[in-house]
Amino acid sequence: MPERVEIAAPAKVNLRLCILSREESGYHALESVFCALSLADTIVVTRGEPGTRLHVDGGIDTGPPEKNLAVRAAAAFHAALGEAAAIDLHLAKRIPSQAGLGGGSSDAAAVLRALNALQGDPLSRDVLLQIAIGLGADVPFFLCGSPLALAWGRGERLMALPPLPSRPVLVAKPAWAMPTPEAFGEIARLRGGIYKPVPVSIDAADLRDWDGIAALAVNDFEPAMKGHASRVRALADAMRSAGARIALLAGSGSCVFGVFDTEAALEAAAKAIAAPDLQLFRAETLGTMPEPVAS
Ligand code: C5P
Repeated sequence: MPERVEIAAPAKVNLRLCILSREESGYHALESVFCALSLADTIVVTRGEPGTRLHVDGGIDTGPPEKNLAVRAAAAFHAALGEAAAIDLHLAKRIPSQAGLGGGSSDAAAVLRALNALQGDPLSRDVLLQIAIGLGADVPFFLCGSPLALAWGRGERLMALPPLPSRPVLVAKPAWAMPTPEAFGEIARLRGGIYKPVPVSIDAADLRDWDGIAALAVNDFEPAMKGHASRVRALADAMRSAGARIALLAGSGSCVFGVFDTEAALEAAAKAIAAPDLQLFRAETLGTMPEPVAS
């Protein structure tokens, strides 16, 4: 059995994010195209003394350890396995939080995969998916095996898609953060509480190239950014003017991202939107999901 497992935990953006309806529980049914990015945290799990200890590098606030999704993922994994934890969790944090990039969810999925590898893969993917959806709506995507997937439901119904050719992605992080429940609350307010999905038919062929995906690209959260909606629009418009094929709000905010054909177009967009209150990240879409490395 390995002593240590390391795995990258990539950020995601949603190339399409439609909010379809509201369940009685208050949860929302979604339709989404997830896409993983090269911007990534790193998770290392090592065998240790009894218990779970979290060590975080990177200077990004990850909240109190007991609320941290990586720690909660470890607890859920050990509960499912019926064994007590004896591990150290090292998290090198690079993905900004409350930014719509799925960083906490990706860390949680990476912990599930790393712990499973550390124990010789005792849990099946179906069991890991079941644990994942209990941790958060974005977690199952990171276990589906592809860096590109179509998702429905809360995010637990997934169709892994063939990856597209890698493209440069610019991510702009404004100074404000947007908690996901607040963004959903604003959608409910704007739509009057009850809403139904509009009938849509998607061609499988449209999910096989960037032109097809670009035609489907939308994010229903954009009008729900309260006082920030016009800034989001301006950033996305500036990225499009500089050549972005797709420019949208990331997840439930607050980042705005652009997918470009060339590095030169990405750099033109970076120059056009540069501002003291914006943090810029340069990444690319992933061609494969990172695998755990055991030693
Ligand atoms: O799943 P996650 O922890 O990211 O969700 C945070 C909050 O966002 C939930 O507590 C819920 O209020 C809202 N949410 C929702 N419908 C979803 C996903 C999240 O209403 N499909």
